[in-house]
Amino acid sequence: LPEQILKGKHIIVTAGGTREAIDPVRYITNHSSGKMGFAIAQAAANAGAEVSLIAANTSIPVPNGVDFIPVVTAKELEAAVMKRFTSADGLVMSAAVADFRPAVVADHKIKKTKDNDNLTISMVKNPDIVKQVGAIKQPQQFVVGFAAETNDLLANATKKIQSKNLDLIVANDVANSQIGFNSDQNQVTFMWPDGQTKKTVVESKAKVADELIQIIAKL
Ligand code: C5P
Repeated sequence: LPEQILKGKHIIVTAGGTREAIDPVRYITNHSSGKMGFAIAQAAANAGAEVSLIAANTSIPVPNGVDFIPVVTAKELEAAVMKRFTSADGLVMSAAVADFRPAVVADHKIKKTKDNDNLTISMVKNPDIVKQVGAIKQPQQFVVGFAAETNDLLANATKKIQSKNLDLIVANDVANSQIGFNSDQNQVTFMWPDGQTKKTVVESKAKVADELIQIIAKL
């Protein structure tokens, strides 16, 4: 990787999966490990960028030389991103944000009762963070989103790049257990707004991150 291609740039990277509380002891989350986002943060730092790594519930080592901001919920992740975005050069939104959160967080642990064989948890929609950022980004700023899909990968990625006003989307097939969640390997398709695509080979998340940094340097 050519040295310092992002020197002087401030890049925000989000990683991990948000947790949405149900009651004081339980939450809803997803399978994101944060490995891809951490690899991107490391690659950006290696390329000379100032990196803010906003991480939701990760338990992997923090890359060297990055500003680490731990968060728990989608609302906290949103606040951490919005606080920093206006003064940043760009955002890589690789966190897996819960689309919904419980409408109310019970004050006490929810108990099972004799006459209650079902439990319904009412959920409300979380803010779409990358969409909000896509709507306010200035021409000199970039926003990269991710599309983790189990089906119709490219069709879904195309919809997302447009509806969220992204400069690039990184699409991956999470139905394939060789790649994606918690794996050290990944295979992604980079997609640009004009519909151009580039598919990587199955390679380490560090290699995918280096390819992404090369693309970001051009953005
Ligand atoms: O629509 P979908 O959740 O599949 O889109 C994925 C992209 O949107 C990812 O970049 C993810 O980080 C981002 N996202 C977000 N806020 C949400 C849901 C997803 O920023 N509430």
